[in-house]
Amino acid sequence: MSWKTIIEPFKIKTVEPLGFTTLPEREAVLREACYNIFAIPADKVLVDLLTDSGTSAMSAEQWACVMRGDESYAGARSFFTFEAAVRRLTGYRHIMPVHQGRAAERILFSVVGGPGKTILSNSHFDTTRANAEASGCVALDLPAPGALDFDTPADFKGDIDLKALEDAIRRIGKQNIPMIVMTLTNNSLGGQPASMANLRETSRIARHYGIPVIIDCARFAENAFFIKRREPGFASRKVSDIAQEIFSYGSGAMMSSKKDAFANIGGFLALNDPDWAKAAREILILGEGFPTYGGLAGRDLEAIARGLTEVLDEEYLTYRIRSIEYLAEGLRKAGVPIVEPPGGHAVYVNARKFLPHIKPEGYPGQSLVCELYRTAGIRAVEIGSLMFGKTENGKFVPAPMELVRLAIPRRVYTQSHIDFVIEVFADIAKRRDRLPPMRLIEGSQRLTHFTAKMMPEPV
Ligand SMILES: Cc1ncc(COP(=O)(O)O)c(C=O)c1O
Repeated sequence: MSWKTIIEPFKIKTVEPLGFTTLPEREAVLREACYNIFAIPADKVLVDLLTDSGTSAMSAEQWACVMRGDESYAGARSFFTFEAAVRRLTGYRHIMPVHQGRAAERILFSVVGGPGKTILSNSHFDTTRANAEASGCVALDLPAPGALDFDTPADFKGDIDLKALEDAIRRIGKQNIPMIVMTLTNNSLGGQPASMANLRETSRIARHYGIPVIIDCARFAENAFFIKRREPGFASRKVSDIAQEIFSYGSGAMMSSKKDAFANIGGFLALNDPDWAKAAREILILGEGFPTYGGLAGRDLEAIARGLTEVLDEEYLTYRIRSIEYLAEGLRKAGVPIVEPPGGHAVYVNARKFLPHIKPEGYPGQSLVCELYRTAGIRAVEIGSLMFGKTENGKFVPAPMELVRLAIPRRVYTQSHIDFVIEVFADIAKRRDRLPPMRLIEGSQRLTHFTAKMMPEPV
């Protein structure tokens, strides 16, 4: 019997109260925050969909592991537990813990990046790009054709464009390309997965030219589950086997354990190349810590090791992907245009289509973000001209998209929270033409969305 309702595959042992507020309170909070949701205290938020990073609920077993953490400075038992878990999953030889994903990026690019080099990727996540560029190299995105067509669904919009990859290698020269980074799933383009066929072919091309493939594996389990569900030949394979096959096409990985390891902090850098690993360890010691703890406590290492196994549980992954689809279905029914298909960790609302009366200069995504908070205390994030727009020669240059991301923390909210979000969207949809444009009154040169000050304008 297959049931219609996907129940959460866990029961709840510890609870946290939500931040209930009144409409006048939320209006005052928004004013005080200058209409920037990053400036809102979390206890004034009812449903927090700002990010899925570091916001997971840990399991009872993970908390038990926390108690087993060995806090020895060197050679802690917890390190060997962690190392064994990462090696079992990836098969890679040299495993270094780091405090979070971007530390792995900084270390790796310090070793093999630098001026004159270009890193190729299906799409660099923003910290990956920033760390690559900080080392002096160029970060070049080669997304699959159709990845930016938000209305047309496709199974593997997270693929790299294989033709563009080979063209780029020939044009730039293999000696100038230290690595190809495959981001799984592709967060910058909607949490879309890459297919096994694409990974296999990327690996073949890379081997032909002698270029290593490094996997940015923050959401490897969600990607593996999409392969099982969508790619011919994988339906009867275990997700853990699929994940191992994914890693077999790379020779190293950078991981933010704040996503598919259910940890609130942590990450790792895993490499096969002994020379890269030696150089990386030296930088690790300089900035993160001794190689058997790398910026983490023993208890964190234990929680990550356990999380890497739990995340491959197929009951969990079925619920996870189904619950994202459920939100997407509810939004479609409420007449809210979304990026198709929904990703593995988030649904992205197409604010440009939802609020056509607001031009990019009026930040339609930010207007919707503020209205979600004003109406019901829901926190989401704008991915549009506030985040990626620029001013060039005094002229506003909008971002290519105006989206609002609803990222779902792992194992945190239940179906009734999601039903509530859908109900709020249905209410906003009825009066969408009255949402105001926003004006930027104070920004900064870089990453302005974190600190920007905004004002609603008359409609
Ligand atoms: C694909 C991807 N890579 C890297 C990172 C960076 O990880 P962290 O936030 O742990 O530094 C993120 C974070 O969201 C991510 O989504």
